[in-house]
Amino acid sequence: MFHRRASAARPMLAAYGRGYTSDSSRTVAYTKDKYPGIERSTALNQLSSEDITFFKSILPPTSVITDEDDLSSYNVDWMRKYRGQSSVVLLPKTTEQVAKALAYCNERRLGVVPQGGNTGLVGGGVPVFDEVVISTQHMNGIRSFDAASGTITCDAGCILEVLDNYLAERGYMMPLDLGAKGSCHIGGNVATNAGGLRLLRYGSLHGTVLGLETVLPDGTVLDNMSTLRKDNTGYDLKQLFIGSEGTLGIITGVSMLTPKRAKSTNVALVGLESFEKVQETFHMAKDMLSEILSAFEFWDHKAAGLVRAHHGVGHKDPLTSQYPFYVLVETQGSDSEHDMAKLNGFLEKLLESSIVDDGVVAQDDTQIKSLWSLRELIPEACSKAGAVYKYDVSIPVPKLYTLVEDMRERLAAVGLLGQQVEEVIGYGHVGDGNLHLNITATSYDSKVTQAIEPYVYEWTAKHAGSISAEHGLGLMKAEKIGYSKSPSMIHLMRQIKQLIDPHGIMNPYKYFPSTHQHQHQ
Ligand code: FAD
Ligand code: MLT
Ligand code: ZN
Repeated sequence: MFHRRASAARPMLAAYGRGYTSDSSRTVAYTKDKYPGIERSTALNQLSSEDITFFKSILPPTSVITDEDDLSSYNVDWMRKYRGQSSVVLLPKTTEQVAKALAYCNERRLGVVPQGGNTGLVGGGVPVFDEVVISTQHMNGIRSFDAASGTITCDAGCILEVLDNYLAERGYMMPLDLGAKGSCHIGGNVATNAGGLRLLRYGSLHGTVLGLETVLPDGTVLDNMSTLRKDNTGYDLKQLFIGSEGTLGIITGVSMLTPKRAKSTNVALVGLESFEKVQETFHMAKDMLSEILSAFEFWDHKAAGLVRAHHGVGHKDPLTSQYPFYVLVETQGSDSEHDMAKLNGFLEKLLESSIVDDGVVAQDDTQIKSLWSLRELIPEACSKAGAVYKYDVSIPVPKLYTLVEDMRERLAAVGLLGQQVEEVIGYGHVGDGNLHLNITATSYDSKVTQAIEPYVYEWTAKHAGSISAEHGLGLMKAEKIGYSKSPSMIHLMRQIKQLIDPHGIMNPYKYFPSTHQHQHQ
C-alpha cells in the first residue's frame, strides 16, 4: 500500500570534491601504465620553463599552478581511475586570457586538456601525459538574465547548482539536473552534452543551449552568445561544440533557455517485482501523468543495497520490504492539488492493476530530497569499491535490463562473479532508454576488462543501441566509437577536427581511435 513517509530528516546529497571520491587515499596508477599501448604524440612538445614564464606573463600568479600537491586533484579523475602527469594548470578568469593561452599552446604545439568540475566519467577531463590543463574554475560570473524570456548567459565555469539556485530566486530553473550538480560546470555539461535526471521533460542541451562563446585552438573567439530561439542563418556551429568533449576548443560562455520553476513538485517511490513491471509503470506514467511527468528513474536491488551499505542507516529502504526493482517518479506542474490528484490516481491504478505492491509519496521538500538521494547516491556508493567499471548505454527500453542479466551470467560463467567481480548493478534513466551498467570489482584488472569488453559494446551494437548515451567517449571509449558510428561519419568527424585543430593540441588521445589499438584495464 502507499503510505506517507515516516522519517523526514535525511542527510542531503553531499557536494562532490574536486576529482575525489570519498576514498581519496586509494593510489591511482598512471594512465600511461594502465594503457600500455598508448604512446605520447611526437607532434606535441614538452613543457619548458619558458612556457611557464609566458603563462605567468598573461595570467595572475595564482592562476598558474605548478606545485605538485596542488596539481594532483587536476590530474586524477572523479573515479580515481585515470591519472595524468601534467605539471601546469592554468586558471584563466577571462575569455581573452583563454585565447592568449590557447594561441600560445597552438604555436608551441603543447597539448591542452580543458577541465570543468572534473566530474566526467570517461577519463576525458584529465591529461594522459603532460598536457597543459586549462580549467574554467575561475570563470564563474553570471553575465545576464532576462526574466521575460528566461534566457541566462554566463561564464562556462559556473557550477550547475549555483546557476539553479540563482534562477530559483527568480522563479526559473536550469533545464538539466544531475547528481554531480554541486561540482560540475555548465561548460563541462555542454562539452559532454550531459543528459541527467530530467531530460525526459526538458530535453537535451542541443535544444536548450541558445548560444556559445568558444575559443578555437588558434585563439580565435567564436562569439555566438545568441539568446534567440530561432535563427536560421547558416550552419548551426554551436551544435558542433555540444558534446565535443574539449576536442575542438574551449567553451568560455553559455547562453541557455531556462524553464519556469515548477510551483508544485511531487515524488513517489515504488517497489516492483520485475523489469516488465518497471516498463508497465513507465507506460502508465506517460499515459496518466503525461504533461506533468518530469523524471522516471529506476534502479535494482543491488544498487539499493550499496546505497544502504555505504550511506548508513539514514538510507534504509523506505518501503515496508525490499524489492528487486525501484522506480522514482517525479511530477512538476503549476497546481499542487491537481498534480497530487493525478499522481494519486496513477498510484492507485498501479495498485489495482497489481503492477506494484508498495510505495511512498513524499510529503514535503525534505522527503522529496530524501527519496531523490536514494537514486542520486548510487554513483558514489558504486565508487566505494576497489574499482568500478561504468558503462552508459542507450538501448531500446524492452531490452534495457537484459544487458545486466546477461553480464551477470557471463561473469559468473567465467568464474569472476563473487571473486574479483563483486556486483553487477543496473540503474538509469528509463524515460530516455539509458541504462547505467556498473560492475564493481576488487581492483582494475585486464582479466576483468577482457571479460566485459568488447562483449558489452558488441551486445549494445547488436541491439541497435549506442555505447554512450550521455557520458561521452573520452579516453575510455575513444577506440570504440566504431560500434556506434559508421566509417564515413568518423571520417567526416576527423576532417572537422583537422580543420579546427590542425595541430591536434586539443584533448589529445581522446574521442577518436588512435592509429593503433590499445587495451586498458
Ligand atoms: P569535466 O569532467 O571537467 O570535463 C568533461 C569533458 O568536457 C572533458 O572532456 C573536458 O575536456 C571537457 N570540458 C570541460 N569543460 C570544458 C570547456 N569549458 N570547454 C571545452 N571542453 C570542456 N552525466 C550525465 O550526462 N548525466 C548524469 O546524470 C550524470 N550524473 C553524474 C553524477 C555523478 C555523481 C558524477 C560524478 C558524474 C555524473 N555525470 C553525469 C557525468 C559528467 O559528464 C557530468 O558530471 C558533467 O557533464 C561533467 O562536467 P564537468 O564540468 O565536471 O566536466
Ligand atoms: C547517473 O545517472 O547517476 C549518472 O549518469 C552517473 C552514473 O552513471 O554513475
Ligand atoms: Zn545518468
